[in-house]
Amino acid sequence: MSIFTRRNFLKSTVASMAVLGGVAVYWPKSGFAQPNVGMFNALKIPPLLDGREESGVQVYDLTMQNGITEFFEGYQTPTSGINGSYLGPTLKMREGSTVRLNVSNELGEPSTLHWHGMHLPARMDGGPHQVVNDGETWSPEFTIKQKAASLWYHPHLMGKTAEHVWRGMAGMILIEDSETDALPLPKRYGIDDVPLVLQDRMLTRDGRMDYRLSMHSRTMGMVGNIPFANGTYAPYFEATTTKLRLRVLNGSNASTYNLALNNGQSFTQIATDGGLLESPVSLTLLQLAPAERAELVVDLVAGEVVTLNNVTDGATGGGMMANENNNAVAFPVLEIRAANELTASAPPPENLTSITWLKEADAVKTRIFNLEMQMGMGRMSSGGNSHSINGKVLDMMHIDETVNLGDTEIWELRNVSMMPHPFHMHDVQFQILDRNGRPPAANEHGRKDVVMVNSGEVVRIIMKFEDYADPDAPFMYHCHILEHEDAGMMGQFVVV
Ligand code: C2O
Ligand code: CU
Ligand code: CU
Repeated sequence: MSIFTRRNFLKSTVASMAVLGGVAVYWPKSGFAQPNVGMFNALKIPPLLDGREESGVQVYDLTMQNGITEFFEGYQTPTSGINGSYLGPTLKMREGSTVRLNVSNELGEPSTLHWHGMHLPARMDGGPHQVVNDGETWSPEFTIKQKAASLWYHPHLMGKTAEHVWRGMAGMILIEDSETDALPLPKRYGIDDVPLVLQDRMLTRDGRMDYRLSMHSRTMGMVGNIPFANGTYAPYFEATTTKLRLRVLNGSNASTYNLALNNGQSFTQIATDGGLLESPVSLTLLQLAPAERAELVVDLVAGEVVTLNNVTDGATGGGMMANENNNAVAFPVLEIRAANELTASAPPPENLTSITWLKEADAVKTRIFNLEMQMGMGRMSSGGNSHSINGKVLDMMHIDETVNLGDTEIWELRNVSMMPHPFHMHDVQFQILDRNGRPPAANEHGRKDVVMVNSGEVVRIIMKFEDYADPDAPFMYHCHILEHEDAGMMGQFVVV
């Protein structure tokens, strides 16, 4: 077993331990001051699916299926994926084009596929109301009415989302438009424009990653002991350009990542959930909550090796990647090996895009959402829900909010619980007005569909409901810690 043979990996202070294939797997407690722990698997790049044209419609065939994945040599892990055994292809779509997704279910159980971040009619959304039964094919069709962005897709079956995503069903969607076509950004897929799906999974001694909730993971969300990027353990990427664009998706069930380079250098964020920022933002630390995306540009020097790490960040309290004792741990996410000769890339331009900012004065309504956690063993052990929004857990037969088409609204998210909750809403890309009355950080000043709401925080977001109304088909809003969502920390709104 060759996973953790490097001595320097084992000698560091131990924060948590798991056992895989009879070999103890240790996470070092403190950061990665030591060069690295040995990253030895080439980063897998999900295949790019362009779709095929059928009388003016781009058609994508997606099959949800079970399979076996060998994350570790010699260990056969039962997993699920889309068109493969783990994760799914990256779907490339263009603004203005009409797409049809043929979603076939070969899982042996019902599921759904939801297009996270997409502005579309509710019936095409793939949420809990669009169940695809085993053996069936569901074919939603819609027109891409939004700017270039890195979105994603994942199952969204009521009560089963966490388990289905955990088993491996997720993929990225890259929307392109003429604006980004004209920008000198790295855009060669898998070469200088690389998707990076970050996930952590709990693997057992025999290499299985069964989804089993303890009382702790039911409350805090399911956190793993093994980090993966694109389903690759201990990944490295061989870069050939002076700038590497990483489209990072936090595809974890519950963990928040705090990303930094091991050399302390800054990197540039050019896009957030819903697309490009107006200008690039230079960062040394990026917090990425579950379901959030960030497009980063990393500067490389020929012959150099840099590591993107998850660092512990006590300050935010959101650096989860925790064991059952909830110790936040640090670990390398991706080792970037720059070739001895690099092709020069252009720097990201100062003006990336322009965003139409919604004005507070144009909002016709403010809705309040209290994000709550009820403590108490009685509720937990009886299998009751401990997380709720405005005192309610999801009732799929009940519409919580009714919104008028064309309206601009403010949603005020109040976290009155003791842990952070990443709030997500369907249909729209919103803008963050303020956090506890203060304007958002520059890298959150863009189109968002997930926002971390920290304990005790009040976050105000503003959004406009356009194009699609349907009194009978709701959109969802929820906490994107998938265990919270499954437990009913979710509501639904209709646009009429
Ligand atoms: Cu990423 Cu309601 O989902
Ligand atoms: Cu979504
Ligand atoms: Cu939550």
